[in-house]
Amino acid sequence: GAPWYFDCDTGIDDALTLGLLVAEGADVKGIGSVSGNLAAAGGARNTLDLLAVMGRTDVPVAVGAHDPIDGVFGGGAAFVHGENGIGGVELPRVGEPVAESAAEMLVRLAHEHEGALRVLAVGPLTNLALALELEPRLPSLVADVVIMGGAAAVPGNVTAVAEANIINDPIAAQAVFAAEWPVTMVGLDVTMEARFEEAHRQRLEAGGESAKALAAMLGVYFDFYTAILGRPSCALHDPLAAAIALGTLEPTLAPLVPIEVDTTDGPGRGQTIVDRRDRYIGYPARPGLRHRAVLEIPEGFGDALLASLLRLP
Ligand code: BDR
Ligand code: CA
Repeated sequence: GAPWYFDCDTGIDDALTLGLLVAEGADVKGIGSVSGNLAAAGGARNTLDLLAVMGRTDVPVAVGAHDPIDGVFGGGAAFVHGENGIGGVELPRVGEPVAESAAEMLVRLAHEHEGALRVLAVGPLTNLALALELEPRLPSLVADVVIMGGAAAVPGNVTAVAEANIINDPIAAQAVFAAEWPVTMVGLDVTMEARFEEAHRQRLEAGGESAKALAAMLGVYFDFYTAILGRPSCALHDPLAAAIALGTLEPTLAPLVPIEVDTTDGPGRGQTIVDRRDRYIGYPARPGLRHRAVLEIPEGFGDALLASLLRLP
């Protein structure tokens, strides 16, 4: 399979994603953390500890950017993911991050796996933007980028128009969309439709050690989403992006579209501006389009994710 660089802000749905990548046997060459759900250092800690539970202490983890490109870290989302980012679950502390930064790791891996490295990013895009600064040739070294972030045709979840990963660093996100690599955007349009229900949580709880640890984290995450979704359940943002990246879930609609990010300081800040005028005026195919926005997925992702996670040690 393809070599992967995984960038995350671990985070409860990030933790599920790590589980999915391990369960599917993805060839993850390195993982970088970034401030988002919690500070980058804490995200790296959670990632290392989870990898140990899953029996994958061989995967190197780099601490990434603490602050966004143009400001300071806003403090995270403890109200969604708990103070420690993983719902208060205490894991044994195993291993240390590597000395290189996440951006340096990405650049190194891109050179080592020239043309083949695939990038999956499910937090703010700061590390990817820093890597683009370090190595301007990065887009030609990397096969493609899949992100969880943005919202094409639905409201945001932090502001009326902005999704968390994008508004936490809009300048970085714009740099990622402007670079000459193909980006697949898996936004709230579809991630809010991908769910774990209470029955999934209970079945996870009855699984192996890794599954049990993930189920324990879901308590806090369910508390937050149950209020929004009106029933005991949660959205599966980051795991959905991973499944689409891995090809284990085929989107039903993912058109090639121009995507830009609003980096102004007004009410539009952090909006992903996805040009869907083709829907109304039947654009002829426009040359040079590189980005896809996933807008529809088939049902049943929760079942598929559960089946994968139950295979973990
Ligand atoms: C995104 O924000 C984070 O809280 C989640 O981990 C996900 O990546 C959803 O907006
Ligand atoms: Ca995340």
